[in-house]
Amino acid sequence: MLFFEILSSLSLWPFAKATAQTCKAVPGTALWPSAAAWTSLNRTLSGALIKSIPPGGVCHPGWPNYNRNSSCAEVQKLWLTSWAFHSDDPVGNGYNNWNNDSCLPSPLVPCTDLGYPVYVVNATKSEHVQAGVNFARDHNVRLIVKTSGHDFRGRSVAPYSLSIWTHNLLGLSYHAKFEPSGGRCDCGDNWLSAYNGPAIKMAAGENHGAAFDFANKHGLMIHVAGARTVGLGGYITGGGHSLISFQKGLAADSILELTVVLPSGDIVTANACKNPDLFWALRGGGGSTVGVVLDFTTRAWQSESVADYAFGFGSPTFNDDRFWEAMGYMAGLFPSLIEAGIMTYSNIYPANGTTSPTLLNANMQAPNMSAARMGAILEPIAKYINATFAPDVIAEIFPGGEKASYYEWWQANQDTTTPVGVDAVISSRLLDAKALKSPQFKTLARKAMGGGGIQINVVGGPGTHAFPSDWNAVTPAWRTSYAHTLTGVYVPPYDPAEDAAQIFNITYNLSAALRELAPDTGSYLNEANSYEPDFQDAFWGSNYPRLLEIKRKVDPGDVFWCLGCAGSERWQAIGEKLCRV
Ligand SMILES: Cc1cc2nc3c(=O)[nH]c(=O)nc-3n(C[C@H](O)[C@H](O)[C@H](O)COP(=O)(O)OP(=O)(O)OC[C@H]3O[C@@H](n4cnc5c(N)ncnc54)[C@H](O)[C@@H]3O)c2cc1C
Ligand SMILES: *[C@@H]1O[C@H](CO)[C@@H](O)[C@H](O)[C@H]1NC(C)=O
Ligand SMILES: *[C@@H]1O[C@H](CO)[C@@H](O)[C@H](O)[C@H]1NC(C)=O
Ligand SMILES: *[C@@H]1O[C@H](CO)[C@@H](O)[C@H](O)[C@H]1NC(C)=O
Ligand SMILES: *[C@@H]1O[C@H](CO)[C@@H](O)[C@H](O)[C@H]1NC(C)=O
Ligand SMILES: *[C@@H]1O[C@H](CO)[C@@H](O)[C@H](O)[C@H]1NC(C)=O
Ligand SMILES: *[C@@H]1O[C@H](CO)[C@@H](O)[C@H](O)[C@H]1NC(C)=O
Ligand SMILES: *[C@@H]1O[C@H](CO)[C@@H](O)[C@H](O)[C@H]1NC(C)=O
Ligand SMILES: *[C@@H]1O[C@H](CO)[C@@H](O)[C@H](O)[C@H]1NC(C)=O
Ligand SMILES: *[C@@H]1O[C@H](CO)[C@@H](O)[C@H](O)[C@H]1NC(C)=O
Repeated sequence: MLFFEILSSLSLWPFAKATAQTCKAVPGTALWPSAAAWTSLNRTLSGALIKSIPPGGVCHPGWPNYNRNSSCAEVQKLWLTSWAFHSDDPVGNGYNNWNNDSCLPSPLVPCTDLGYPVYVVNATKSEHVQAGVNFARDHNVRLIVKTSGHDFRGRSVAPYSLSIWTHNLLGLSYHAKFEPSGGRCDCGDNWLSAYNGPAIKMAAGENHGAAFDFANKHGLMIHVAGARTVGLGGYITGGGHSLISFQKGLAADSILELTVVLPSGDIVTANACKNPDLFWALRGGGGSTVGVVLDFTTRAWQSESVADYAFGFGSPTFNDDRFWEAMGYMAGLFPSLIEAGIMTYSNIYPANGTTSPTLLNANMQAPNMSAARMGAILEPIAKYINATFAPDVIAEIFPGGEKASYYEWWQANQDTTTPVGVDAVISSRLLDAKALKSPQFKTLARKAMGGGGIQINVVGGPGTHAFPSDWNAVTPAWRTSYAHTLTGVYVPPYDPAEDAAQIFNITYNLSAALRELAPDTGSYLNEANSYEPDFQDAFWGSNYPRLLEIKRKVDPGDVFWCLGCAGSERWQAIGEKLCRV
């Protein structure tokens, strides 16, 4: 494919033509609902319809939020430091490029609301969600769903749209012995139909912080993302990895039941016995695809302790070849570390001139293991690296200690390094044992890093491998892989040519190296590239045909659409419009 052809296939490059009839409704045209129709929706919602205001408007004269509450300077700071700021705003989201940089918080740049939804349903009950879905469907209005706006892929924002904001759908409850609504059925050896242990029911607006606080009060642990502010909706529907996923499976593997508003407006409960197809699709098929989830009930476990260690190495002689040889050795050990009960969130940082060499910084965690036992496993590895690669590579380990519970560990180790408020595109690949042990690891992972770093989250293992590949809709790659590896690029605002070059680079150069390294796996849906080539295979593999069939059946009119989402093939974004292909 020529460079230019690839560019024009990216939605940033709206060369295609389309007529009004083949697009979702555009404001200012006859197809857009009348003011009276919106007023009537607002009445149905008892006043919960919000006209969206770009959060960056606080820096721009003329916007209703201009210097209203927080000052521009305060917002500028929060923008780059606080996921909570973006989560708590009705239309805020983490990465500006998905808003087309249409209103950044600086008086020096333009501000329009074009990158944001037009209206937002501030849903506090299921009827609000129903009313929003019915309205969007009946009026051909583009529909999106936002819980926290933490999505790296831009799936929770869109121009010319109505957004259902699920942030205020609240409620948590504890069930000592889970009972499926509607009773049990015989699903063969499917453990879900027999499970009667502890469970937590969580309304879709509760975030991981609130949900884990609640579970912990009952002495339980559940799957959580790296930070309190991450929402449930995207995380669970997309898979959801956690510190305990290598032993317990993914968050999506642990869901017992959920309630969902379908494109028809119907509210249904789905579990192993009721609506099993929907239940299957909503566990891994992705957010905003077959409906708006109102609540999830997850299996919970008795809380376990966590020991941790920092482990790292670098090359003080700035010998990158030797660093990567040591890294290749280390990567090959990840599967056996996992089997031994130790997972890691690892970063490889690139060399910075002669200031610091390329570095592996691996945070190792072991549930239900003593720090002494963990040290006994890790120390020989660090010593071996020293013995084999010194003086070029030096390894060090530091015991972190033991925390009485995963909850306590998590409270003390919140993810505060994931960039927010920037313009960026990431890409990822799941690596199986073959890829991690491959002699090619050192060259291909190095290539994937480009000028930035890579992250290697070793979060798969016996827990994710225990489920059959068609257990739910998540990519079967989770059933064989150990490491979820991410790379990323920044895409500078207001520079379409550079953006396209960077997106091209991450899509066809950096992540191509990871695809070459692990041709048989896939990519984790939630931390991925919306421009991923052959995204259906990358995100769902052999589960895609069934997922697509369910999507087509439940949402024949494509009420739900997002870029690189299941069943998205029939539409494309053309500038601000969403049109039939
Ligand atoms: C700081 C940080 C740490 C993270 N740590 C982890 C981690 O440890 N493990 C991991 O697996 N992922 C992690 N993630 C990634 C996370 O899984 C995604 O960002 C995910 O999209 C978040 O879901 P959300 O609902 O909060 O986000 P949103 O941006 O609100 O939504 C994401 C997608 O889900 C849809 N959606 C949201 N709610 C619903 C709903 N109720 N019904 C239907 N669709 C819905 C949206 O339309 C959108 O498509 C992290 C992200 C960040 C920013
Ligand atoms: C919806 O109604 C409420 C209460 O009447 C009002 O405050 C709000 O501005 C209305 N929303 C829109 C978009 O008009
Ligand atoms: C307004 O400011 C107050 C105090 O600084 C804060 O508590 C509140 O959340 C802000 N509201 C909005 C909508 O930003
Ligand atoms: C959303 O609704 C909740 C509950 O009614 C309310 O407290 C909150 O202020 C609303 N948010 C906005 C931005 O209107
Ligand atoms: C790289 O090193 C220079 C000094 O040599 C320093 O100013 C800069 O902040 C460093 N960059 C990073 C990303 O660490
Ligand atoms: C924790 O480890 C002990 C042995 O050290 C074992 O008996 C117990 O089953 C483990 N608990 C879990 C939940 O794995
Ligand atoms: C590796 O060697 C370095 C330098 O001699 C030393 O500081 C470090 O402690 C050694 N690491 C281990 C695990 O022994
Ligand atoms: C693409 O990535 C390569 C490898 O890191 C780098 O050398 C090149 O400059 C990048 N291209 C662009 C346009 O940034
Ligand atoms: C990026 O990929 C293109 C197409 O495969 C290739 O021509 C180019 O050399 C690559 N650039 C780098 C820096 O690897
Ligand atoms: C982004 O904004 C530019 C104008 O600044 C516009 O030309 C382009 O169509 C917009 N792209 C999208 C995807 O909305």
